Amino acid sequence: MSDLKKQAAAAAVDYVTDGMRLGIGTGSTADEFTKLLGVRVAMGLQVVGVPTSERTAALARSLNIPLSTLEETPELDLTVDGADELDAALRLVKGGGGALLREKIVAAASARMVVIADASKKVDMLGRFPLPIEVNPFGLGATRIAVERMAEKLGLSGPIELRKGPDGLPFVTDGGHYILDASFGRIPDAEALANALVAIPGVVEHGLFIGLATTALVAGPNGVETLTA
Ligand code: A5P
Repeated sequence: MSDLKKQAAAAAVDYVTDGMRLGIGTGSTADEFTKLLGVRVAMGLQVVGVPTSERTAALARSLNIPLSTLEETPELDLTVDGADELDAALRLVKGGGGALLREKIVAAASARMVVIADASKKVDMLGRFPLPIEVNPFGLGATRIAVERMAEKLGLSGPIELRKGPDGLPFVTDGGHYILDASFGRIPDAEALANALVAIPGVVEHGLFIGLATTALVAGPNGVETLTA
């Protein structure tokens, strides 16, 4: 599996050209991309990166990749990031690594988003992976009920769990929020769910990425497949 992640990451490096302003994703596949980017930078490639998490920032810094912020560099040429799942329309579920808010802000600020994944991430319909929902810690109980009721109206149900860290305490995102992982199962209308989630006040963001990915590089046993939106 890690070999496939490396292959997808290597294919994405070809999309990077001199002078680009780059969003740098989070997760094990994105880490492979960041490492390869570091090699190119050491060879003289000039880019400036905006990391999608503190974790990615630390890795990029250790590789001497020049970094910026969306304050200094508010418009990006390309973001390369992983996904927890993707469908044929390049709709994604992201946030398994807890970085979905920054990932979405960075992807939305980019002219293009290239998703890198191994073939196990491809699904016919989104929903196999629990949907991460980033919520404000204030009003957690009320927000969870609001999510449940909204889901019921859309014909969705399933356990909604507060994500915990290795210490057993609630996992806290880079933005200081919590994550609810919603195991709704198959999501026939991802757009309707996305719209309904953002209408709930305690929901900060959700892991449905719709209309953001322009290309997906999916590595499988027969090589890297390129999908376009
Ligand atoms: C991080 O919050 C996520 O959106 C990741 O991009 C996603 O979980 C994919 O991670 P892996 O490449 O580790 O599977």
